[in-house]
Amino acid sequence: MNAGKSAAGAVLSKSATLLPQSGNPMPRLKKLDVGAGRAVGSINSEGLPNNGIEYYVSDEVLDAVKATGKPYIVSLSGLSTADNLAMLGKVAAAAARKPNTIAAVELNLACPNIPGKPTVALDFDQMADVLDAVAGHAAFRASGLPLGVKLAPYFDGPHLDRAAALINACERVSFVVTMNTIGNCLVVDTATEASLIAPKGGFGGVGGGFAKPIALAHVAGLRKLLDARVDIVGVGGVRTGEDAFQLILCGATAVQSATTHWLEGPKCFNRIDDELRALMASRGYTKLADFRGNLRAYDKKNPKHKGGPKAAAAAAPTPYAPLAAAFALGCLATLALGLLDGLFSSP
Ligand code: DHB
Repeated sequence: MNAGKSAAGAVLSKSATLLPQSGNPMPRLKKLDVGAGRAVGSINSEGLPNNGIEYYVSDEVLDAVKATGKPYIVSLSGLSTADNLAMLGKVAAAAARKPNTIAAVELNLACPNIPGKPTVALDFDQMADVLDAVAGHAAFRASGLPLGVKLAPYFDGPHLDRAAALINACERVSFVVTMNTIGNCLVVDTATEASLIAPKGGFGGVGGGFAKPIALAHVAGLRKLLDARVDIVGVGGVRTGEDAFQLILCGATAVQSATTHWLEGPKCFNRIDDELRALMASRGYTKLADFRGNLRAYDKKNPKHKGGPKAAAAAAPTPYAPLAAAFALGCLATLALGLLDGLFSSP
C-alpha cells in the first residue's frame, strides 16, 4: 500500500532543497529500542537527501499526487534564505501552471542535520529575517497557498514565547508544525564502542517515542501562545491512535508521523486512524472538535484520578476521529496525515 491509498489525510514531500543532493554518509538513520521495546524511536542525520524542488513540483509528481485525491503539501528546507525564496517562486509557478494540485507549503526551519549550518528556528534573529523575506515574496503571496513553518523543539519557556511571537507577527503563516526532531543527540553502540550513525560525529536528531512528551508540551504551549488563526500540526511520537488523540487534546489540528511511517510503511495510517476512531467512540466523541484543545489541568477531585488507572478506566467514558499526516524520510513520498477538519483543502 502506498501513502496515496492509505488513510493518511495528506501527502507531504520530503523537505526539498533548490538542487538535488544525496545527503550525509551512511549509516544515517537507525531504529532505537529502549526498555524492551517500550520506547521506540529513531536517530537520523540524513542531511536532506532529496530530488530537488523541480522534481517535487514537476507535472509528473503533481499528477501522481492528485490521482491519490489527497492534499499535497510541499516541504521546503533551503540551505539559505535565497534558496528558500527561489523555491517559493518555483512552487508559485507550479501552482499557477497546475491549479489545485498543491494544497500548502511547509517551510522547514528546523533541520538539525546539515554540517556547518545552524538550525534557523533556534536563531531568532535569523528566523525573523527569513519570515520577513518570505512574507515579502510577491509571487508566493499571489499564489494564495497556505504557509506553515516547521519549528525546532525549545526547552525554555522564553524561547517558546519568542518563537510564537515571531509567528504571530507574520500574518502570512497560517500553521506551524511542532516539532522537528530533538537535534544533536548521540547514541552509542556498546558492541562497537562507536556512535550508531556516521554523520556529524554520530550526532543526529532523535524522534519517535522519546519525543512525545516534548511534542505534547509544544502543542499545548503554542496553542496558548499563538493567535487563533494559526493552526498547529503536532509531530513527535505518533505511533498509535492514542498518541494522536493526546496531541489533538493539547490543541493539534492535524498530526504527522515519521518514525512510525518509516518502520511500518503507509499502512500505519489505517491502523492509527482505526485506533483513533475507536478511542473517540469509547469516549463519546464523534469529531475532533469535541475534544481538541480541551486538555484539563491536574485536579485531585477529578474522579479519573481516584484509585489509579483501574478506576480511571472504569470511569472513563471513551475516544477518537479521523486524522492524518505523516511525512517524509524517503524521497517523494512520505507522508501524510492530517487533514483534519479542513486545515488543508483538497486539491
Ligand atoms: C532531515 C531531518 C529533519 O529533521 C527534517 O525535518 C527534514 C530533513 C534530514 O536530515 O534529511
